[in-house]
Parts: sequence; structure tokens; C-alpha cells
Amino acid sequence: MIFNKGLLFVTVLATSLLTTSLTHAKNFKIAVGDGAGGAQEALGEAFIATLEEESKGKHSASLFLNGQLGSEQDTVNSAAIGTLDFSILAINNITPFSPTVGTLTLPYVILSLEDAVNLTQGPVGQGLIENTIRDAGVRIIGWAYSGFRVLTNSKRPVSSVDDLKGLVIRVPKNEIMIETYKSWGVNPTPMAWSETFAGLQQKVVDGQDNPYLTVYAMKFDEVQKYITNIRYIFSIEPLIVSEAIFQNLSKKDQTAILAAGKKATQFSEQLLRDKEEAIKVELVKRGMQITEPANNEKEFIELATKTVWPKFYDSVGGVEKLNKVLKELDRPQVK
Ligand code: MLT
Repeated sequence: MIFNKGLLFVTVLATSLLTTSLTHAKNFKIAVGDGAGGAQEALGEAFIATLEEESKGKHSASLFLNGQLGSEQDTVNSAAIGTLDFSILAINNITPFSPTVGTLTLPYVILSLEDAVNLTQGPVGQGLIENTIRDAGVRIIGWAYSGFRVLTNSKRPVSSVDDLKGLVIRVPKNEIMIETYKSWGVNPTPMAWSETFAGLQQKVVDGQDNPYLTVYAMKFDEVQKYITNIRYIFSIEPLIVSEAIFQNLSKKDQTAILAAGKKATQFSEQLLRDKEEAIKVELVKRGMQITEPANNEKEFIELATKTVWPKFYDSVGGVEKLNKVLKELDRPQVK
């Protein structure tokens, strides 16, 4: 079930059902889509440590890894109605609930970690925070940066768009990503994140894309052999809190939560800088083979930007929204 306009009503209802404001100590539940060892877990651990410190030991939280509390998209619904406190998930799994977030998942918009940091921590990020509260009933309070989503598969090295033909590729249930693969001549298979490892293992699908940190955390090296170093989406993984639960906290607790989210974000940025290269080396040691896309990815870039961007101008809030993002990144405007 996906909420959008009716969400305001659901949030108001959930807030009123949480009858009294939360004043007692709490061990919050944090759903985490990925397994241990990735950017999501690291963000969660950094958040918990700072929350304990900021709330002077009053509040803590526990991580539930590997989608134990539901698929990433399900956790957005659970948080919206106040049955889940927090979730850490890939931004592409929020887009179906709050389409303007799609500006950050349009292919080849974010071209570096610096771009990702500028956008999420500047006015664009602030706008997206407000929109997700309004559309999805969840508040983004921190960001993990996991790196570019690289393509993996179990069949063969892929360096060109042509090599992709015939491969069955899993994508999240995200229209932008579906259309991107279509622009490359592939009809991808939408599948929940929580089912993806099994799908690859049982060969229901041949491949998928996710950052190196996630490939490692999910042990995809056990079921995938080939990596193509494409850079079409830079993966950002927000930490969200149920807006209903957040509004029920005292001002002091809200401040502690926001401060913990901010500190965890800074930690995540550093983690990516420190870890990505070593993880890449480790995946090769474990038998994975990395291929660079032909011609500096030119063909992938041209097909995706020319055909996919215009299809989503409306859903991201108009071409001017995309231009605002591009301006922020000192990139040419589009018409
Ligand atoms: C997905 O592919 O659904 C997500 O990127 C998974 C994740 O959160 O790492």
C-alpha cells in the first residue's frame, strides 16, 4: 500500500492514537534493509551511540538488520502509521511514496560523493525532507552515502549496452530505475530488496545493481561473479523516523534525535571515503571480476539522460526542480 495525499490524515490519526506524549525512556526499533557490514548498519550504529550520549542515556535504539521488520518499502508504510519508529533504507525505496525525491535518483544527476553531500545537506535536501513529511509521513533525519550502484550479474562480463541484452536484471520497484534499464534495451524485473538475494541464488534473476558496500554487506559475491563499474545512480540511504512518533516526543528528545542524525551523517561520509576501495579489493579477492564500461560509459549516459529524464519531469515537480538541482551542482540546465 502506498500513501500520498491521504497520508496527512493517516499521520494525524496515528499521532492522536499515540495518546500521551512520550516522556519515558525508550529503546527505539530501527529497521535496516541491508545485512551487517554496510553503510546502513554503520549509520545506525553511529546514530545510536550519539542518541545515547545526547539524551544522557535516557533513550537507546536497536537495529533489526536484513529486512527483519519488512521490505524497505513496507517499512515506510509502518513508520507512516506509527507502528515502526525508524528505518534506514535506500532512497529509491522512498521515491514511490514521495516522487520529488526522484530528483536524486534520476540517472547521472549525482556524479560524485561531493554532489551527494551538497544536495542532501543543502536547500535541496531540506526541501526533500519537507516533502517526505508531507507525502509519506516520515522525516529524514540522517543520510548514509553508499557510493555508486554498480551492476552485478552471474552470467558474463558486461561492458556495453549491447552486452546487457538477454540478462534478467532485478531492480527495486522504482519507475525511474525500470525506465533506465528500458532505455538500455532491457525489460527489468522489479523485486523487493528482501527477496533479492534468494532471487539471485535461485537464478530467478541474473543480476542487479547496488553499491560496492552493499554488495559486500549482502554477500552477493556468493551468488554473483561479474561487476560493471557503471555510475548511473549514487546511492543515498536516508535514516527516517515516523513523523507521528517524532511529534510525540518532547522538544528536548527531538533535538537529541536530530543531533544524532546529523552526527551519524558526517560519520557515514567519512566511512565511504575510508572503506569503498578496500571493499572493492576484497570482492575481487573473493572471485568477483570488475569490468569498466566501454567508452567511459558514454552510451549508457546518453540513452539514460535523453530518454529517462523527460519522462519524470512531472513527477519530480517540473523541469525547474531538476534545473534547481543541476544549478546547485554547477551543471548545465535542461529544457
Ligand atoms: C534496493 O536495491 O532495493 C536497495 O538499494 C537496497 C538497499 O537498501 O541497499
